[in-house]
Amino acid sequence: MDNPSSPAEPARFLFATCQVGAEETLKHELARRRPDFRLAFSRPGFLTFKLPEGHRLPDDFRLRAIFARSHGFSLGKVTGATPEELAAETWRLWGDHPIHRIHVWSRDVAVPGHRGYEPGMTPEALAARAAIRQVCPIAQQLAPNEEDPEVPAKQGDWILDCVLVEPNEWWIGWHRARSAASRWPGGMMPLVLPEHAVSRAWLKMEEALRWSRLPLAAGAQVAEIGSAPGGASQALLDRGCFVTGIDPAEMDPAVLAHPNFRHLRRRAVQVQRREFRKIRWLAADMNVAPAYTLDVVEAVVSHPHVRIRGLLLTLKLFEWEMADALPEHLDRVRRWGYQVVRARQLLHNRQEICVAALRSAASGRTGRRGERPVQ
Ligand SMILES: C[S@@+](CC[C@H](N)C(=O)[O-])C[C@H]1O[C@@H](n2cnc3c(N)ncnc32)[C@H](O)[C@@H]1O
Repeated sequence: MDNPSSPAEPARFLFATCQVGAEETLKHELARRRPDFRLAFSRPGFLTFKLPEGHRLPDDFRLRAIFARSHGFSLGKVTGATPEELAAETWRLWGDHPIHRIHVWSRDVAVPGHRGYEPGMTPEALAARAAIRQVCPIAQQLAPNEEDPEVPAKQGDWILDCVLVEPNEWWIGWHRARSAASRWPGGMMPLVLPEHAVSRAWLKMEEALRWSRLPLAAGAQVAEIGSAPGGASQALLDRGCFVTGIDPAEMDPAVLAHPNFRHLRRRAVQVQRREFRKIRWLAADMNVAPAYTLDVVEAVVSHPHVRIRGLLLTLKLFEWEMADALPEHLDRVRRWGYQVVRARQLLHNRQEICVAALRSAASGRTGRRGERPVQ
């Protein structure tokens, strides 16, 4: 199980999943960054691309596309009338690929928030997973804790991917676990909104922290611009951070009552720079255009007496076309002195993305393991 050999044939297709509505944006992103990948198949929330002949993409290839929630090499689709038939076809297609884990999930079927729709694990995906597992001919190769939904894949694990594109049409592929998101089915970390959370922004912040792996530890001094009503601040408070919320709107009384929270009830431009002297981490989640969010953040981070080590910014895309400017926006953040800048449309993002940035490459990068937490 430890050193399974690579598939003999290089993969010919890549699959990617995304939020419903983000397909065109993802296609544009890939046309810009990987013009040698050709779109092959497209459904809402699910795309495949033909890879160039003779490509030398590594087994653990990372697409690094902002709008791809998950991706892997595609083996093609299986069709059948029942989950049992589809499961049998899955293993026929799988052949003798190495395997440690099975990830099964449904493509998104609606825009997040539309009539209460939330992307995530579905009963159909769990049933399909059980059917595939039931007839797995190489079960001895699977990791011992493979069936525990709370346990993510280990880095380097070989994963069978099965995306339920239609009830009778599953797309099969594989990837090797590497990034934090790639260790979970469909790149979806299983987060549950806690009862005390005052808004679903709690999920957004928690996912952003886990995805970015910013070294932001208990005791860290964090400011959030656009903090009301306070779900995201609560996620930070739950981790033991000290949080300064900046927002002209009202914070929820439960957040205001927290001993480690202080509210500056005003717009960001009205906040004196000295208020940021102790702050080392800055989050922003304003319902304004990306350029305005960046103007506000730049005014803080470029001040000579302010030392912000890392950023977690939500950039709202009121129109999908606003994504075209993202490369420039990310370059702008780099020019402020943040060497590591990454962006992703998180599972809990609506029509928006998350940008994570870290100033000092010397003291670690977002995503590096074993790094010393910094306050
Ligand atoms: C999406 S909500 C923030 C949600 C919040 N992060 C939470 O966890 O509940 C956007 C907020 O941005 C605030 N906002 C908009 N412009 C702002 C500005 N210039 N300065 C500070 N806050 C601003 C709004 O008042 C609004 O409360």
